[in-house]
Amino acid sequence: MIKKLLREFDKQFGAGGVKSAFFSPGRVNLIGEHTDYNGGHVFPCALDFGTWGIARKRNDMLCRIFSRNIKNFPWKEFPVDHVEKRENDGWVAYEKGVVKVFADHGYRCDSGFDMLMYGTIPNGAGLSSSASVELLMSVILKDLFRFPVDMIQMVKMSQMAENSYVGMQCGILDQFAIGMGKKGAAIFLDCNTLHYEYAPLVLEDMDIIIGNTNKKRGLVDSKYNERRESCEAAVRVLNDNGVHIRYLGELDEKTFEEVKGFLRDPVLLKRATHAVSENLRTIRAVQLLKNGDIPGFGQLMNASHVSLRDDYEVSCPELDIMVEAAWNSPGVIGSRMTGGGFGGCTVSLVQRKETENFIRRVGEEYRRKTKLKPDFYVAGIGDGAGKTGDY
Ligand code: GLA
Repeated sequence: MIKKLLREFDKQFGAGGVKSAFFSPGRVNLIGEHTDYNGGHVFPCALDFGTWGIARKRNDMLCRIFSRNIKNFPWKEFPVDHVEKRENDGWVAYEKGVVKVFADHGYRCDSGFDMLMYGTIPNGAGLSSSASVELLMSVILKDLFRFPVDMIQMVKMSQMAENSYVGMQCGILDQFAIGMGKKGAAIFLDCNTLHYEYAPLVLEDMDIIIGNTNKKRGLVDSKYNERRESCEAAVRVLNDNGVHIRYLGELDEKTFEEVKGFLRDPVLLKRATHAVSENLRTIRAVQLLKNGDIPGFGQLMNASHVSLRDDYEVSCPELDIMVEAAWNSPGVIGSRMTGGGFGGCTVSLVQRKETENFIRRVGEEYRRKTKLKPDFYVAGIGDGAGKTGDY
């Protein structure tokens, strides 16, 4: 892949000089959805597919980017010393946002650079193609300009780019998983303290199967931001009634039972119920996994889906159909929607001997009921974003 991209780079930008290659993965979250901005826990892993980038410094202050994924208008350029948000930023908003946030933190590029990008994460599938691009840009900036930043700082700055430049008020789940991912392991992260530990995923006779509904997510950002506001509103109501918390993720089951009566608005109550229960489910699920109780882990994945569907209301008919088909398929340990929701992907834990059958059965049922053609990927768990070499 890299050789091909290097050749393409020379074709687009001209040969010569030192070129560096980078890779930044996508991510899948096994459990712990919509908990990150609620100060709760998540349990994602980095995937072995993602976004590649080839970069080389220029003699002026321009950043020129060519994306192999974009058919119309694959070229974008902007001055690195004067990044301004523009109406027509389009796909380059992520890259520009990262350059801007770095500069705002004092990490200013002393020259421009050329960059070729190629990604294999389906867009809008909820596997974080955007955070993958943000971390790709971060590792490129760090390497080209020798910025003394560590991965956690880059994770935070990438999230800031998404929040302040792109305008999506996401939590830290995606950027953390993509920056800090480790081959063969999932990351158990407390999004409040950023304390994390790697949990080796020893699923000897099992596959993690990602099912893409190919239902493109519409209006995701606004609905996402709305969910986030509801949770913040719930915290305010609870605090007005004498509860002292910053995040819903601070509540345990018993305390929530005691105070939930203050949430008289039924919508706020449902949103808070999900945020609290999903966080506790995630903590419990990781404990079960550590104890080797894979079926128990799977049950909690299923419960997570029900909560996202009924209490948080971020699922959609396509996701529900695919998850229900999975639940009825032999050898399935657990299945749920993954990511922000409103379309995108499901994640299922399936006994390997049933993988082919699963893909066929779930695929057929999904197709019959939705008239959409799904895609399935058997997920490999890869490392986080980084440099692959100089050429
Ligand atoms: C999106 C956001 C994440 C997280 C998930 C839901 O992927 O970018 O921060 O909130 O949704 O868990």
